[in-house]
Amino acid sequence: MSRTPKLDKKLISSILQQHKAGDASALVNVLHDLQAHLRYLPQEALEMAADHLGVSYAQMYGVATFYEGFHFKPRGEHVVTICMGTACHVRGAPRLLEQAERDLNVESGGTTKDLMFSLEQVNCVGACALGPLAIVDGTYKGSMTPAKLSNLLKKMHKKGKK
Ligand code: FES
Repeated sequence: MSRTPKLDKKLISSILQQHKAGDASALVNVLHDLQAHLRYLPQEALEMAADHLGVSYAQMYGVATFYEGFHFKPRGEHVVTICMGTACHVRGAPRLLEQAERDLNVESGGTTKDLMFSLEQVNCVGACALGPLAIVDGTYKGSMTPAKLSNLLKKMHKKGKK
């Protein structure tokens, strides 16, 4: 289980101030902005946003859950996604996932305790020719092997500690 990062209410307020108070039409933009800065949507941030926009918390949460791509649990600074679609799967994606789980000491779908990494899996992103594919912070890393992935994670970990 990962710890919850301390909520920076000042940061949330400053994000909200960039949107006109009472303007419910800005709801989705506000959600995007909050997630871009916080990496997920904590309940308290949604409550503050609902207050600011003059909508109910239920409405705020309802819209956030309607769209894919919003996260409600803390996410790591780095997001490592392994494609488990058929083409990547037959080329060894399960071994990539196992390697990442071992190296990061976290199961797929989880976030490391230090909030440095989130490990996720996806089913085909349409880049099958590159498989097996790992996506690291949005960058496609094709023809991935467990050893290459392990090295990459180690390097990222070292960098993050500096
Ligand atoms: S199966 Fe991995 S990109 Fe298509």
